This record gives sequence, C-alpha cells and structure tokens, in this order.
Amino acid sequence: MSQQSSNILEIVDISKIYGPVKALQNVSLYVRPGEWLAIMGPSGSGKTTLMNIIGCLDSPSLGRVVLDGLSLDSLSAAELTTIRRESIGLIFQQFHLISYLTALENVMVAQYYHSLVDEKEALEALEQVGLADRAKHLPRQLSGGEQQRVCIARALINHPKLLLADEPTGNLDETNEGLVMDILHSLHRQGGTIIVVTHSPEVAAHAERTVVLEHGRVASDSKLGAQEKIFDQASQGVEGLEGTKSAKEADSPIVEKAGGIG
Ligand SMILES: Nc1ncnc2c1ncn2[C@@H]1O[C@H](COP(=O)(O)OP(=O)(O)OP(=O)(O)O)[C@@H](O)[C@H]1O
Ligand SMILES: [Mg+2]
Repeated sequence: MSQQSSNILEIVDISKIYGPVKALQNVSLYVRPGEWLAIMGPSGSGKTTLMNIIGCLDSPSLGRVVLDGLSLDSLSAAELTTIRRESIGLIFQQFHLISYLTALENVMVAQYYHSLVDEKEALEALEQVGLADRAKHLPRQLSGGEQQRVCIARALINHPKLLLADEPTGNLDETNEGLVMDILHSLHRQGGTIIVVTHSPEVAAHAERTVVLEHGRVASDSKLGAQEKIFDQASQGVEGLEGTKSAKEADSPIVEKAGGIG
C-alpha cells in the first residue's frame, strides 16, 4: 500500500481490552514523519494505553500497529525492545530513573544502549533542560520536576525519530514548561515526529494536529492545534461536535496565553 511508506506510524483499528474495561476501541491513526500531534481527552479515556502500545511497551488486543514500515505484531519481545531503543524516545508519566545512578549517568544509560557513551553529549543534554549543575545528584536529591527533566534529557539523547511524551510538563512550573516546549520545537525542526499527551490546551496548542480520545475512541482528529481549533469551533458554533470533548474544551483559558505560544 503506497500510504504505508509515507506514514511513520499506522494504527489500524486497534482495541485494548482489560476484562470488562475497553481501554481502547477501534482506534485508527495515521501519522506522517515530522508531524506533531497532541493527544487529549479526559482521565481514563485511553491516552496512556495508546502511548504504551505505540511505544512497544504493550500490545493491542485487536488490530495492527505499523511503525516505520514494520508491523509490530510480527516482532519478538527482543525485537520490540530494539525498536524502542533505536527509534523511540519515551517521556512517560511514570518513567523511573535508576535510583543509584546520578542524573548524568541516567542520561548516559540511554546512550549505552546505542553503544555510544559520550559524557560531554549527555552533559549537554542536561544543560538543555537546565540541569547541568545537578549532573552529579542522585534522583532522590532532585525535585519531581527536575527528575522529569532528566527523563526528557534521556529521551532526547539518541535523537529519536519518534518522541512519545505522556504529560511531559505535568510537574513543571511555567519557566520549565517553556524550556521543555523549546526542546520539543527544536526536535521538531530537525524532522522529529512528536506525540504529546496532555491535559493542557497551552501545551496542545504547540502541535499541528489534535486527537481527542473519549471512552477509548477517537472523538475528534483535527489538523489544527488546539488553539486554532478552539477559534475555528467558536466561529462555526458547536455544530458537529456532539459526542466530542471539543466543545467543552472551548471553555479553557487558552486565549489568554495566546501571546506566549509559538
Ligand atoms: N493494566 C490495566 N488493567 C486494567 N485496566 C486498565 C489497565 N491499564 C489501564 N486500564 C484502564 O483503561 C482505561 C484507560 O486508562 P489510561 O491509563 O489509558 O487512561 P488515560 O487517558 O491515560 O488517563 P489519565 O489522563 O488519567 O492518565 C482506564 O479505565 C483504566 O482504568
Ligand atoms: Mg495517562
């Protein structure tokens, strides 16, 4: 299929079922190289489940995922691990640092998997997230937001083709949120594909496309970032939005932040 080669990610009709819970139901999503997607939706709508599946940490109960031309269901666990290390950067809600390694060593672990350990580069990654002076600290000597930034440095060190971030700015103040968004923009300018799960319309507004999940289904998929989408919906009224979260999100205070975005 010609479409296959032009997408870095193809999610074809996947469902994830946990006993009585349908965490994902018939979700399809096609992502082109270099796209920046925001995934939004209420708590429990399946966002993390979807990210775990894209990140090769879990597999769907039904359906198919094709990453960079490779169908994931045909791969062994070892092959999935290799893909994760080679092509994907993960910044997850619960992505733990190794407790007995310093911030610098935690970043270098990611390089180690690529047989390319370069302390200078790891230190630069920490500098990028404003943590050069914490390089020798252990995770327990870092604040929650600082630990999150070490995870970001670690995810970016190998210049992943696909960056998956689940609430990457959830524990950060405004200054550090700005820092992280600058880093994502820099990766995006270099051609990286980015998928960010966020509850924040401000963070979603950086993306070119917003997918909203509700009850494990895609409720809307818009080429516009959250901000333009809200303006668009405001100008069209709320027609055609039945069953989506979008109309509710239009209440968000994003417009006040418009000057600070981009
Ligand atoms: N391992 C599991 N076993 C059983 N149910 C699960 C499991 N993982 C997730 N679920 C259920 O699947 C649904 C989707 O969960 P998920 O973590 O994907 O939501 P989310 O959209 O990321 O929510 P949040 O915004 O709170 O992080 C929830 O109802 C959750 O309870
Ligand atoms: Mg989640």
